[in-house]
Amino acid sequence: MAKTVLITGASSGIGAGMAREFAQKGYNLAICARRIERLETLKQELESQYGVKVIAKTLDVTNYEQVFEVFRAFKNDFGTLDRVIVNAGVGEGRRIGKGNFEINRSTVETNFISALAQCEAAVEIFRAQNSGHLVVISSMSAMRGMPKHLTAYGASKAGVAALAEGIRAELIDTPIKVTTIFPGYIRTEINEGAKKLPFEVDEKTGSRLLAAEIDKEPVKAYVPKWPWLPLGLAMKVLPLRIVNKLG
Ligand SMILES: NC(=O)c1ccc[n+]([C@@H]2O[C@H](COP(=O)([O-])OP(=O)(O)OC[C@H]3O[C@@H](n4cnc5c(N)ncnc54)[C@H](OP(=O)(O)O)[C@@H]3O)[C@@H](O)[C@H]2O)c1
Repeated sequence: MAKTVLITGASSGIGAGMAREFAQKGYNLAICARRIERLETLKQELESQYGVKVIAKTLDVTNYEQVFEVFRAFKNDFGTLDRVIVNAGVGEGRRIGKGNFEINRSTVETNFISALAQCEAAVEIFRAQNSGHLVVISSMSAMRGMPKHLTAYGASKAGVAALAEGIRAELIDTPIKVTTIFPGYIRTEINEGAKKLPFEVDEKTGSRLLAAEIDKEPVKAYVPKWPWLPLGLAMKVLPLRIVNKLG
């Protein structure tokens, strides 16, 4: 029987891109985000192009009750959820101490607390099934403290990576797998308008590489592997002044 992947933040960027990649591989899709019209268009595209089953639901991940309701409803619709990708996120951060606490607070809320809600809802379902693959989308900005607009964002992504590792530790003797993904720069709506980004790849390339890595169910993966795997290791030990150049 075809496996089912749930993806949050599937209305654009790598969420939509990964939905396309997994549909092409024959997976059924549970897709959610706030922009339901976009999800409905994607559903029609995937069903007609790949003949898979796609269900789209509205979800604001900062509405924590709704996270649990929507995940449970998807589980009821499909019978089993084989993989949940915690992908919804925003990149709206501002420099610290310049009067933008509200923007930074909401970045951390969407990227970290909402990710916790999604992990709770997913793992509850996986525990009941005694199976499942939890995938958390962190970022290369989680490697070290980042300057400028990336400070709160990077902290939220470091939080998400620590959360995923903790869940992996908790579930280590169970059949439930946990993967942390550290994407490098992928050109999507999140960085729309930004000047050239270091080592950036386009949405299609990024999504293809992400889906291929996720299917291997690794503990963690840097995507694209080159140059981000060696850079990630270097970032952990280089002086902050040099790491700053990647921000
Ligand atoms: N692109 C990169 O270079 C890069 C690098 C590292 C990590 N990432 C991470 O990858 C993930 C996807 O980002 P992207 O690059 O694909 O950007 P994107 O095109 O802006 O996509 C973000 C997705 O998150 C959803 N989202 C945002 N706030 C939400 C909320 N409150 N409730 C539900 N959904 C919400 C958006 O859907 P709606 O607006 O329709 O709700 C959208 O589908 C993010 O977690 C991001 O931090 C991206």
